[in-house]
Amino acid sequence: MKVFQSSGQIHGEINFLKEQGKTIGLVPTMGALHKGHIRLIERALISCDVVVCSIFVNPLQFNNPEDYNKYPSTIANDTKLLEEIDCHFLFHPNYEQVYGQSEPREYDLGNLNEIMEGSYRPGHFQGVANVVMRFFEIIQPDMAFFGLKDYQQYMVIKRVTQQLMPDIQIIGVDTIRDEKGLAMSSRNLRLSEEEYSSAVKVPALLKKAGLRLEKYTIPQTKTWFEKQVNKLPHLRFEYIEFADANTMVPVDRIEKKQSVRVFTAFYAGEVRLIDNMAI
Ligand code: PAF
Repeated sequence: MKVFQSSGQIHGEINFLKEQGKTIGLVPTMGALHKGHIRLIERALISCDVVVCSIFVNPLQFNNPEDYNKYPSTIANDTKLLEEIDCHFLFHPNYEQVYGQSEPREYDLGNLNEIMEGSYRPGHFQGVANVVMRFFEIIQPDMAFFGLKDYQQYMVIKRVTQQLMPDIQIIGVDTIRDEKGLAMSSRNLRLSEEEYSSAVKVPALLKKAGLRLEKYTIPQTKTWFEKQVNKLPHLRFEYIEFADANTMVPVDRIEKKQSVRVFTAFYAGEVRLIDNMAI
């Protein structure tokens, strides 16, 4: 695996490969790689000739500075994992290499910036859009791969890419869960044993929330879910929302044939976790 820290160098190498007709896949990450990331890279390796994994903890997308400071960094282990699965390129730039002297841009994120993660984490999606668009300029991928655990982020990236770089295909890859059902996240590394024991109960509650809609309304189900989460030791409920999977407009009632997902965010101790699933 080739490791690049310079944007100019990887850009040059990719240009050379593209001239030879190679297709390029990009898997952007913030490191602390886990099985969810590995699945994204494996998926990229199936569809593209050359796969680039980027590792960059992007300060622009952290609305909470403590969260940024505590973000796990495991670069030696990440490099080893990427080598084991035959990823071709690792791009591990510093801030200067990604943004240079340029000011952050303001993207049109529509309603995605107003709901759920958009409203609870002001500035987060602008930060994500800035870094992903910057990586797209540097790497010029044919396809880029994102986990559906961050479904709203996936929709943000699809929207901005469609507006500005419509030739890039955005591929969403299903959430990978650990043996107890918790969605894989680099943040899980920060959970104590007790926090983990409570957090692993949330995916089953979320699934049950979907099933309860056969008998109860969405507002009733939201109240039920909030109570269940807050009953679990160390957990603090933040939100539950049901939204149309295509438009992301929150719904209070599901129309026939409408495809809807249920979304939640909660704290386990100091660690903020999110999850979502189709219902
Ligand atoms: O999902 C993530 O890890 C990050 O938000 C991403 C897409 C790598 C941008 O920094």
